[in-house]
Amino acid sequence: MNAPSPILQATGLVKRYGRVTALDRADFDLYPGEVLAVIGDNGAGKSSLIKALSGAVVPDAGEIRMHGEPVRFSSPMDARTAGIETVYQTLAVAPALGIADNLFLGRELRKPGLLGSVFRMLDKGAMQRQAREKLSDLGLLTIQNINQAVETLSGGQRQGVAVARSAAFGSQVVILDEPTAALGVKESRRVLNLIRQLRDKGMPIVLISHNMPHVFEVADRIHVHRLGRRIAVIRPDTHTMSDAVAIMTGAMEASPTIA
Ligand SMILES: Nc1ncnc2c1ncn2[C@@H]1O[C@H](COP(=O)(O)OP(=O)(O)OP(=O)(O)O)[C@@H](O)[C@H]1O
Ligand SMILES: [Mg+2]
Repeated sequence: MNAPSPILQATGLVKRYGRVTALDRADFDLYPGEVLAVIGDNGAGKSSLIKALSGAVVPDAGEIRMHGEPVRFSSPMDARTAGIETVYQTLAVAPALGIADNLFLGRELRKPGLLGSVFRMLDKGAMQRQAREKLSDLGLLTIQNINQAVETLSGGQRQGVAVARSAAFGSQVVILDEPTAALGVKESRRVLNLIRQLRDKGMPIVLISHNMPHVFEVADRIHVHRLGRRIAVIRPDTHTMSDAVAIMTGAMEASPTIA
């Protein structure tokens, strides 16, 4: 059997912010159907990597390929159009808007016919209906009012809206940057279950997390990032959590083999 080829791949990504090199020739591979965790110390460049893969920053050098074809995303909308949905560490929700409006932000449904195509009228009813459906399908939120302003939700519920949006619209890849950092035990569990559900439906997922038990629970492979680049790929069945932390902090030499 031929080895499957990566659905999303990066080679030699470089991103500098002034004198800081956030990405220093970073490589990345995501295979079909897997949960890939990305771990690394604070400042290692994890969020920068995700931003480069999702069009939120344009790398100074390096190449990104999707299904083997070189791609260039100059905005998050480019990446979303290509099927990559991202929940950023700093949540990109619009606090004053309601839940349904947030779900459809940037891809609003228009009324059918001329009202929508010429007058650009929004189909609020359809968006609310679909928002309610999507949220209940995902079993993620216990929110009654789909028009409740997101600023009145708790941090965890907001995170839930953002994760629901990515799960509902991601068609190729879902990227979650620290999705459980602000969540309680029960909400974290829901997000982890959602990650598993999505993976079982065949959706590849990138999970950035500092939570080793979460990482070891759901990841198929673990990309270890250090000082701006990938220094190892390990698996929950080949390494322990303390190995992972030791590699991440430089206390343990990473074996050069990439799992
Ligand atoms: N917009 C920016 N302007 C200047 N420096 C930045 C910017 N974004 C990131 N950096 C720097 O790039 C480096 C990598 O940051 P990044 O956010 O990618 O790390 P991270 O691995 O996601 O960290 P954390 O675990 O804390 O989220 C850090 O030194 C950071 O200060
Ligand atoms: Mg980060």
